[in-house]
Amino acid sequence: MRGKPLATIISAGLSKFGRREGVYARELFAEAALSAFHRVEKLDPSKDIKAAFIGQMSEAYEHQAHTAPIAASWAGIFPAPAMRIENACASSGSALRCGIMAIMSGLYDIVLVGGVEKMTNQPTPEVTGILATASDYPFEQWNGMTFPGLFALMATVHMHEYGTTEEQMAAVAVKNHKNGALNPNAHMQKEVSMDEVLKSRLVSWPLKLYDCSLITDGASVVILTKPKLAKKLSDNYVHIIGTGQAQDTFCLHERESLTTVKAAKTAAQEAYKMADVRPKDINVAELHDCFTIAEIIGYEDLGFCRPGQGGKYVESGAPDLKGSMPVNTSGGLKSKGHPVGATGTAQIHELYLQLTDQADRRQVKDAKIGLAHNLGGSGATGVVHILKGS
Ligand SMILES: CC(C)(COP(=O)(O)OP(=O)(O)OC[C@H]1O[C@@H](n2cnc3c(N)ncnc32)[C@H](O)[C@@H]1OP(=O)(O)O)[C@@H](O)C(=O)NCCC(=O)NCCS
Repeated sequence: MRGKPLATIISAGLSKFGRREGVYARELFAEAALSAFHRVEKLDPSKDIKAAFIGQMSEAYEHQAHTAPIAASWAGIFPAPAMRIENACASSGSALRCGIMAIMSGLYDIVLVGGVEKMTNQPTPEVTGILATASDYPFEQWNGMTFPGLFALMATVHMHEYGTTEEQMAAVAVKNHKNGALNPNAHMQKEVSMDEVLKSRLVSWPLKLYDCSLITDGASVVILTKPKLAKKLSDNYVHIIGTGQAQDTFCLHERESLTTVKAAKTAAQEAYKMADVRPKDINVAELHDCFTIAEIIGYEDLGFCRPGQGGKYVESGAPDLKGSMPVNTSGGLKSKGHPVGATGTAQIHELYLQLTDQADRRQVKDAKIGLAHNLGGSGATGVVHILKGS
């Protein structure tokens, strides 16, 4: 299987990300699906798409469960089966693996994979509580832990063990906001300076407002087929050549180390091996920057730099849009936004654009191989995909 296409993406779509007043999640999902359908005129979605795998984290935002059939039917996928996959912020990364397995099994020729979350229906304290349900109830939630708090713990250990600085974390935010300012679908299309990040209000020390991802409404969709069918359906297709997923302990206090996300590291090793590529072969990557420290740890876990060197790596400019390894060209979760269930396939959407030369002002020249790194919770789930342009 090494280096061979597992499944092929023939199209991808995204809703506008942001605070989307007056619409339901189903409408956002339909918006993302329609933008994907417009790219593949040869496809008759309601007839040709045989199943839908949809990531969504929580029913609490809209008081609505059993959401996959609603989202799929609003996108015109009916009566094909629709399934919801819930793996916290890695819901649609995990849904993508389900879609790949469905294609590889031979059960279906064409499937739709996506994700959606409509978070801003609730005020921030409620959203914080809903997000916290993806941490452990007796050990973490019950003791008042929140996601900014969990990642702040990881940040302080990284600072203590490796000397990582608040400026280095801020550099991630500055870079990602710069990229997001070039993305018309991003939630916050605004550049920020190092000074603004460092002076922004404290959320959970050392994390400040601009170290945190946004609370966002949005949806994302990709259409998968068998590699040998792709050419018949689309001129712009991208092969998935590696998929990896792993678990680590659910609670932070049980981890061997707080300076690495072992699930992501293991998932990356699996995906690299399957794809038969090495970190230096990657041309563009979307990393799960739910907090700036998560991107720094991500560089290390993916082998872009040595353990402990993530802070220096971002300072070196390597992950800049014009650097040697552009990371989060979309703006990442920090600036594009983080509608949690939609994030995994939104990362794949950006890589699809990059690898088919459709990323406009964010285009990375000659990008051939892309990597997506998606975390669930504080890293109990890690999902990595490797894509190759055709
Ligand atoms: C950091 C956070 C608490 C701020 O929320 P808040 O205090 O309710 O902020 P508000 O929505 O009132 O926004 C106030 C201002 O800050 C801005 N803002 C909000 N969150 C921001 C963020 N993460 N980054 C940059 N700016 C942000 C708003 O756009 C608004 O700007 P304006 O006054 O110019 O309109 C919230 O964004 C958050 O919880 N983020 C993390 C989400 C998370 O944990 N996701 C899961 C990860 S595993």
